[in-house]
Amino acid sequence: MPISIRPLHPVFAGEVSGVNITADISTADFDAAMDKYALLVIPGQDITDAQQIAFSERFGELEIPGSASNVTAPEDRRLSGPVADISNLGPDDQLLRRDDRQRMFNLGNLLWHSDSSFRPIPAKYSMLSGRIVPDKGGDTEFADMRAAYDALDAATKAEIEDLVCEHSLLYSRELMGFTELSAAEKNAFTPVLQRLVRTHPVTGRKSLYLSAHAGTIQGWPMPEARGLLRDLTEHATQREFVYRHKWRSKDLVIWDNRQTMHRATRFNDTEVIRDMHRTTVAGTEPTVPLPMAHAPAPA
Ligand code: OGA
Ligand code: MN
Repeated sequence: MPISIRPLHPVFAGEVSGVNITADISTADFDAAMDKYALLVIPGQDITDAQQIAFSERFGELEIPGSASNVTAPEDRRLSGPVADISNLGPDDQLLRRDDRQRMFNLGNLLWHSDSSFRPIPAKYSMLSGRIVPDKGGDTEFADMRAAYDALDAATKAEIEDLVCEHSLLYSRELMGFTELSAAEKNAFTPVLQRLVRTHPVTGRKSLYLSAHAGTIQGWPMPEARGLLRDLTEHATQREFVYRHKWRSKDLVIWDNRQTMHRATRFNDTEVIRDMHRTTVAGTEPTVPLPMAHAPAPA
């Protein structure tokens, strides 16, 4: 049965109806819909972690959250295996306190980003399941980076075509003023290289590959690089390219990190529970030929 999709925004994003991810979805149809919409909302998916993992694995290998992607010690994880904890809960299922280090690290999600752009082979799809969602606040915003690229003038497109950026969690956390990192954490967050303009492997569409993790441009003085990255991010997140998702419990939202950015929005997270579980389908190719994808460690 073909997938029935209602557009949610003029340039991207759609809501899928009449499917149950534990049963009747064709992987090929779903990939085709993702290539077109870049973001799909599937309401009413009352799933377990095992069901979420099984569906996600149909699209490729899953990333494993660990010391390369966060500051949570393995023994302090509330969720296990490939399920990333996007909640405001600690391992004891209690709300994280205001000064909790894990909470402060997680607040980096308030910045526009693309998941795992700090990995040498960055992520393909993220699948975020809303298990417990607040009545007010905690929406997620998404931006279509294909439409943002298309809207650039010809001179800017030519200028940025071959630029390569360094991405690291060090850069996004520095923007949030979260700089108290151990030597081991700094080492785990060594920058990687990513093209600034990437081409979708199936559709051939170009998109701006921006992320809060992008901290400089190879061969450029850093303030000049930050100036351009900031301008491009402001351009790409204008309202005409942005869809804001208001969560309902049991929504499964799936986005293509190769074609979109997203950010969390603030809510009273020290008072009400927001429990979201994310699986992440790994990408299949780097944007810069390996082994060049690892930038030299900063001196
Ligand atoms: C994520 C993320 C934003 C949110 O799951 O990767 O950035 O609103 N989430 O929770
Ligand atoms: Mn994210």
